[in-house]
Amino acid sequence: MNIILLGPPGAGKGTLANKIIEKKGAVQIATGDIFRYNISNKTELGLKAKSYMDRGDLVPDELTIDLVWDAFDKHKDESKEGRIILFDGFPRNLDQAKALDQGMIERNQKIDHVVYFDVAEEILIERIAGRRVCTNCGASYHIHNNPPKREDICDKCGEELIQRDDDNEKTVKNRIDVYNAHTSVLIDYFNEKGILLSIDGTNSPDEVFEEFLDKLGE
Ligand code: AP5
Repeated sequence: MNIILLGPPGAGKGTLANKIIEKKGAVQIATGDIFRYNISNKTELGLKAKSYMDRGDLVPDELTIDLVWDAFDKHKDESKEGRIILFDGFPRNLDQAKALDQGMIERNQKIDHVVYFDVAEEILIERIAGRRVCTNCGASYHIHNNPPKREDICDKCGEELIQRDDDNEKTVKNRIDVYNAHTSVLIDYFNEKGILLSIDGTNSPDEVFEEFLDKLGE
């Protein structure tokens, strides 16, 4: 089963993805995480992606689409057998959505659901400002909503927690503008295909997960 998580920065896509992985053994394809991995390992892709991410702009499609297929093709047989594959942060514009549709047809597969997170802008900014991530295992926290047991230390692996480079005020503002200009059109795009599931992203992470299961009919 192939599911897209669609929503603005800070909407809770990664948080829901982690719950679905934990409870249902899903596979996550998170383009932002793939770029950050490449940046920290100083790969050619990372060097190219960094300036776009630092500004909060979209990384060009020619650097993005192929890496999604590389990741998907490792799991496409599991998807046919019912395992959930989560597209987290992809597609992010109409060209990416059309490339995804075309690639799915070529693989005799389809997107089953698109989970759209409805969250007001002031909540997004508060969530992103309070987010802390682990430098080692990538676990994500929030200083008020989901604090670690020890300040700035990861519960899971004991490493230091930091703020993401693109979680500063100026970049967040641009990320939200980019979402409104390029990504939000995908809400109508997928709604017209009859596969959009809208979720109230202002609820708690557990309630968001429950609503996800309800909407899936589980
Ligand atoms: P990416 O890494 O995808 O970031 P994003 O879309 O901006 O999303 P975030 O990771 O900020 O938020 P999220 O929705 O996952 O929220 P989270 O669960 O962490 O992309 C980064 C950059 O990479 C882009 O700007 C672009 O440059 C590039 N990029 C990526 N994909 C691309 C693509 N396809 N094409 C081109 N470029 C691409 O939650 C946020 C915080 O809120 C956390 O602290 C969490 O604890 C808290 N929280 C979450 N849910 C709740 C809740 N229900 N209640 C209370 N608090 C909550």
